[in-house]
Amino acid sequence: MEKARRLIIAGNWKMNKTVAEALDLVNGLKRELANVKEVDILVCPPFTALCEVSKAILDSNIKLGAQNMNENNVGAFTGEIAAVMLKEFSVRYVILGHSERRQYQKETDELISRKALAAHNAALKPIVCVGETLNEREGGLTEKVLDRQVHGSLAGLTPEQMEETIIAYEPVWAIGTGRNATAEQAQQAHTFIRSVLAKIFGENVAKKVRIQYGGSVKPSNARELMSQPDVDGALVGGASLEVRSFADIIKNSI
Ligand code: 13P
Repeated sequence: MEKARRLIIAGNWKMNKTVAEALDLVNGLKRELANVKEVDILVCPPFTALCEVSKAILDSNIKLGAQNMNENNVGAFTGEIAAVMLKEFSVRYVILGHSERRQYQKETDELISRKALAAHNAALKPIVCVGETLNEREGGLTEKVLDRQVHGSLAGLTPEQMEETIIAYEPVWAIGTGRNATAEQAQQAHTFIRSVLAKIFGENVAKKVRIQYGGSVKPSNARELMSQPDVDGALVGGASLEVRSFADIIKNSI
């Protein structure tokens, strides 16, 4: 299928996998996906597995992402990880502002925008997550929420930085629920997000930005979701924890 932008399919492992389990998974993925050239493949293990996974994927088509980082470069921030530390393990991407962090760590759009800037300053590509809750969708607020999150979380980025930023549209009601957005709902939200990007950064930049869909992506719905013109990849949670299901999502998307 001809896509306007190259697909990027990422596994967000969340707080799962010991080092041994992470290596099992990534070695299985290497075997299954060795011949895939059409899609950017990314895994985002927990911090504790980055070092070993990084070594395991050295000679492969799998790239490495982290799930979070601190907005400061260095200093007295107990328990935090800086961009430069991620770079030591050849991390190239970092998920920012996931709805679980917005909810449990109270991350705000303003904080996420500072993290996105810090990521770019370290030459890491941020994957900035946005998405409405069920209440917001049912209240007719989806576009209002997405508009606010896109404006706030990307504030201060230059157009050049925006081109190197990925957005993940993850409706909160679809995360871990088994209830994915329909292809039409995803396409509609992605078109809207792209229109907001066009207003802020210009049409040319908006056309280049890759927007992933996330929320109960599985082998059985990947093809339909990925075939939407404005869906440029997936951010996969649960189904990225098994070789079979993550590999099938990727193969079904090509
Ligand atoms: P699930 O694929 O488990 O619904 O999680 C989606 C997600 O949060 C990816 O970041």
